[in-house]
Amino acid sequence: MKPFTITSRLEVYDSLDELDAHVQELMHKAIEVRNNAYAPYSQFKVGAAVQLANGEMILGSNQENASYPSGLCAERTAVYAAGANYPNEKVKAIAISAKSMKHRIISPVPPCGACRQALVEYEVKQDEAIELYFMGETGKVIKADSVKDLLPLVFDNSCL
Ligand code: THU
Repeated sequence: MKPFTITSRLEVYDSLDELDAHVQELMHKAIEVRNNAYAPYSQFKVGAAVQLANGEMILGSNQENASYPSGLCAERTAVYAAGANYPNEKVKAIAISAKSMKHRIISPVPPCGACRQALVEYEVKQDEAIELYFMGETGKVIKADSVKDLLPLVFDNSCL
């Protein structure tokens, strides 16, 4: 038996004001598009803004369905729209913000496992890391330099 340790380094910011202006702008877009979430079942609205290398920002929000599994998270809505419309542009960063219609979320809400898996595919495709920034409705923001920091032992095309 040979143990090994997995470590990730994340950065925690007390508020969005501590981040660079371009990150603040990206997060403000995520907050804005959060209002477009269609979340009648969970009452949990998520907005995501993807920054492309060409300067475009592609936005997404969660879209739910009466057949629950048919719905889609904000992060995948955004990154798939980016891939569908700008297949040759690199994804530089994604900003995510979540708000519950039931209570105030003051802790950062990380992307779900399925979204991490979807996002890491683009890191592999473009051979470049994607920065992640995520927060709740207000309060602290967490930054990860790469999706892999949130998804160690990644399953990717090298496993096939
Ligand atoms: N949701 C997201 O949009 N992103 C995540 O990373 C976690 C969950 C959505 C899916 C569903 O519409 C609602 O939040 C509650 O799970």
